[in-house]
Amino acid sequence: MQCCWCGRPHPPSGRGFLSGSVSIRDHAALFRLESHPDGRRCLPPPPDDFVTRGNGFVTTLAQSARTSWGWECVRHGEAKWKDFPAGEDLDENFGGFLTKRTMMSFLKCTRSAVGILQMQSRVWMETTAVLPQACSVCSSVRWKNTAANQDKGANYQFRNVRWRHMVLGVVTGTGAILAYGLYRKQEAELKPETSPNNKAQTSYPIYTRQDVAKHKTMESGIWVTYKSEVYDITNFVELHPGGDKILLAAGGALEPFWSMYAVHKQEHVYEILEEYKIGELSPEEVQVTLDVADPYGKEPSRHPVLKVNSLKPFNAEPPLEILSENYLTPNEIFFIRNHLPVPEVDPKKFSLKIEGEGMKSIQLTLHDIQTKFPKHTITATLQCAGNRRSQMNAVRQVKGLNWGSAAIGNAKWTGAKLSDVLKYAGLPENTDAKHVQFEGLDKDITGSSYGASIPIRKALAKDGDVLLAYEMNDEALSRDHGFPLRVIVPGVVGARNVKWLSKIVVSKEESKSHWQVNDYKGFSPSVNWDNVDFSSAPAIQELPIQSVITVPSNGQQLSSDMDEITVKGYAWSGGGREVIRVDVSLDGGETWHVADLSGVKLNEGQAWAWKLWQLTVPLPKDQKSLEIICKAVDNQYNVQPDTVAPIWNLRGVLNNSWNRVKITIKSK
Ligand code: MTE
Repeated sequence: MQCCWCGRPHPPSGRGFLSGSVSIRDHAALFRLESHPDGRRCLPPPPDDFVTRGNGFVTTLAQSARTSWGWECVRHGEAKWKDFPAGEDLDENFGGFLTKRTMMSFLKCTRSAVGILQMQSRVWMETTAVLPQACSVCSSVRWKNTAANQDKGANYQFRNVRWRHMVLGVVTGTGAILAYGLYRKQEAELKPETSPNNKAQTSYPIYTRQDVAKHKTMESGIWVTYKSEVYDITNFVELHPGGDKILLAAGGALEPFWSMYAVHKQEHVYEILEEYKIGELSPEEVQVTLDVADPYGKEPSRHPVLKVNSLKPFNAEPPLEILSENYLTPNEIFFIRNHLPVPEVDPKKFSLKIEGEGMKSIQLTLHDIQTKFPKHTITATLQCAGNRRSQMNAVRQVKGLNWGSAAIGNAKWTGAKLSDVLKYAGLPENTDAKHVQFEGLDKDITGSSYGASIPIRKALAKDGDVLLAYEMNDEALSRDHGFPLRVIVPGVVGARNVKWLSKIVVSKEESKSHWQVNDYKGFSPSVNWDNVDFSSAPAIQELPIQSVITVPSNGQQLSSDMDEITVKGYAWSGGGREVIRVDVSLDGGETWHVADLSGVKLNEGQAWAWKLWQLTVPLPKDQKSLEIICKAVDNQYNVQPDTVAPIWNLRGVLNNSWNRVKITIKSK
């Protein structure tokens, strides 16, 4: 049977209207709505105002929830609620507060929220703001639809915003898990064939892998396969939390992509995918073996003390309180920030390619780099742009790994100076190149490497100290930190310190890498995922002044018996600017003490290393709690902003606000 609206075949009956909740513009989703047992009439296209656009994750959730509501509104006049099996009357179950329609919408909303929260907690986002946001969007659309439908004389029970909030509170606060369970139960009953593995006879169209491969662009539609199923994910592309990385899988199988980004292997992701099913692979095609060996199968072992923010790719930081115990951060506990699997490199076969404007292309072995150039050692702090992102998340949700305050470390780096190597490679003195691009050996499934670039001015500056480093704290680099060779660009954001270096290109252009062009940039707090224009902002290079309290920890309890309190931390500024002072307050910023700084002597303009600081003062008596704050000043008198909100940005980078720690004091 054909849909008379769009002409595509109907899926089998019995799939019910619980299935579609993501894309109102997706025809396939609309057939599924249409396919519930006694609803064979075609739906009109959805009204324009139900179509929300956006490429951010929160928007995704909003759209998911909102579309659920919008969908029901479209369906309102001809809703088939009576099709629910007897005994599932949710009006009764909820004491008459909820109609079945309302409850099912909450279930869908909650399902999206629960699923996305799980995913966010692993990789992208902290969970706090999402559920309320989802439900508020959901409910606002619901409210609009309710009003519209009341005009049509429908029997709705929510007549004001207070009721709406009350119900939201009830459902989201006490019923999320119950609701999710209910939803799953009903879903299992209504559409047992939806699991990608569970193949009942269906009337979906059959496609070949070749058919799927023709759909790689937004114009032709983005199709993917998973196991034996075919999905049209065109409308999900801009909603994908990982941005356009989803296009890596366009026209092909999701399996290799998901083994690279293992966060996808979760039940709720399968469920989201199910919403986009448009067909099945022909049985012979399903047999084709895919190369899905785990690209993370050969990762190095790591120190157990590291707090893991994501396993695949591996990202971890040490406990904050041990960070300030050593001026040089021990290699084993130095934070690790990997975007891709750690490559395995045979140092004997390793070679570095160097090419560029007005230069011949040359290759250098590791031995060449270690012996042909003077060995140079610097002490430099490396900080990830996302350090302290969790505190930004606490203000408003951002997209990114939920780093604490220990995505930073200080080490001694040894290697050849980049300027010496470029000279050796024949870089003309009067070059008009503007950038030096770096490429790593770590690759995604399309073969694209991690990459970044720095201004050539920094690369060639006599006091720029950019190194091709092969040692970290007097040991060969470890695999996680870039063995056998990495760039160290002191004073500059971690992202430009490319590990597993394989290629250097001197160019008039910046690196075209995703991480240079579409990431690691700062924006106004008003910029969101709907209006962000990455080309409008420069790539982050030098980082701003920073300081953090490492001891005591936030929430720690001290005894009033103690006469003194010792506060410790680190402070650092980018661009070689030396930290000259750290101010510490124990009373939320009313009064300030100057902390003692420790660290090695640093040359003017080459203060690449952090300073550790400490303050010991009498413990304020008769206080039950203290808000301890630190703020640093560098030699250009740059200071930290006092709060996060004015520097909040959608990607959660560059958080250098005053660091605040709250402790309680317990009397005997
Ligand atoms: N280089 C490659 N090749 N691949 C990466 O994923 N991550 C970058 C940078 N260099 C990265 C890379 C980022 S974002 C940071 S913060 C630093 O490496 C982290 O270095 P570390 O893991 O040695 O602490």
